[in-house]
Amino acid sequence: MKIAIGCDHIVTDTKIKVADFLKAKGHEVIDVGTYDFTRTHYPIFGRKVGVLVATGQVDQGVVICGTGVGITNSANKVPGVRCALVRDMTSALYAKKELNANVIGFGGRITGEFLICDIVEAFLNENYQATPENEALITQIDQMAHNDEVIENQDIFNEFIEKWDQGFYHD
Ligand code: RB5
Repeated sequence: MKIAIGCDHIVTDTKIKVADFLKAKGHEVIDVGTYDFTRTHYPIFGRKVGVLVATGQVDQGVVICGTGVGITNSANKVPGVRCALVRDMTSALYAKKELNANVIGFGGRITGEFLICDIVEAFLNENYQATPENEALITQIDQMAHNDEVIENQDIFNEFIEKWDQGFYHD
């Protein structure tokens, strides 16, 4: 698989270890930076990974900053990106299986490097289940990125709320 990976200066060492792990597993890795510990800004690298994924230049993305919060938010601002910030295996597998996440993110100061590697590997190996429900929800999420209605229209999810009330969804 072709994987883009990016980080900020707080966790460059962790990012390099994850990139090396992915290469050892046979993946082609595009490291968008940062490459050292000089202070920089995580949105630069969240965006770079997001653009490579959204334009189809890579199959999946991995982003890491100190907490994971900043860089995953940044990646998610690129239309077409569905980036999940995770700290555990269950969330990562759910993100791929149900939400077709195409970027996974971590806090390198929160989650240890070994666990990050295990979770990334499982995430890449998991398959999206394209059920009608999942497809409809992902379409709604993707449309929000292109739609001012998400701010202006308070009733945007009424159709789904009504279906919920009718017992259409099961949890
Ligand atoms: C450092 O810039 C730190 O704020 C960053 O790595 C991250 O933790 C933000 O979410």
